[in-house]
Amino acid sequence: MSEKVLSTRDGAVLTITLNRPDKKNALDGAMYTEMREAFDAAGNDTEVRVVCLTGAGDAFTAGNDLRDFASWDSYESTQQVPVVRLIRRLIDFDKPIVAAVRGAAVGFGTTVLLHCDVVVASLTAKFSLPFVRLGLVPEFASSYLLPAVAGRARASKALLLGEPFSVDEADRMGLISEICEDAELDERASRTCAKLASLAPNALRTVRTLLNPADDRASLHAVTEQEFELFVAGLKSAEHKEAIRAFYEKRTPNFSSGG
Ligand code: COA
Repeated sequence: MSEKVLSTRDGAVLTITLNRPDKKNALDGAMYTEMREAFDAAGNDTEVRVVCLTGAGDAFTAGNDLRDFASWDSYESTQQVPVVRLIRRLIDFDKPIVAAVRGAAVGFGTTVLLHCDVVVASLTAKFSLPFVRLGLVPEFASSYLLPAVAGRARASKALLLGEPFSVDEADRMGLISEICEDAELDERASRTCAKLASLAPNALRTVRTLLNPADDRASLHAVTEQEFELFVAGLKSAEHKEAIRAFYEKRTPNFSSGG
């Protein structure tokens, strides 16, 4: 495993840390693959009862690496795209996942929370779903799950406008389990992981599965598939190319042509 994704086990808790703090833990293909391998290892290791997902430095993750999107053209099918393989793994994962979130939680950084069981967020957490701003569409079944969790009005606002929102708004949307001071985050998340790890492991897995029943999982896979076809089409669009140029030139994108 590279230094960009760390996987450390302490007793029954496996912690996966996104570790690219100079880029706000933006995720490239190799990192998605390493995350999937870490979840595979956690799933297969009977000693592991809980997974904790967190980010190094002052961010959870800035979402997909904006330069790495270009590499998606090299895959023959959507099924080979590292993020899709990770998403499919997480939808079927049956051990509890605790997320510890501070700072930026952009794109995948917010949508992954819809697949975690306990989300502990510090007051510094800032969420956003900037897909439309990037000429793209939501991923990770968030177009299906977010309205279900947050209600249609809040989900539409977050997904269409793509504006950053605070931990309080995320709490109102039903994305957060616990809020704490930033200095307390790691301790609070470890405490929750330790509590979960001390509980009956088979019952925990059964309850996580009940919370995500099989027919719902089938829908999540189907929505993920549909979203990704549209996402990949978006990556080829002039709107997306303009948004990426604007990000690296640190300016507002110009979508005035509308074509
Ligand atoms: N992909 C690639 N690089 C990224 C990145 C991303 N998604 N997000 C941040 N970075 C890089 C920046 O280019 C910068 O690199 P540099 O130091 O070489 O210039 C570094 O990370 C720090 O980012 P910066 O923008 O200076 O930090 P900030 O605290 O002002 O803002 C964010 C943090 C996350 C709000 C902002 O970087 C951002 O909006 N990033 C893009 C998020 C995004 O659109 N993700 C895709 C979702 S699908």
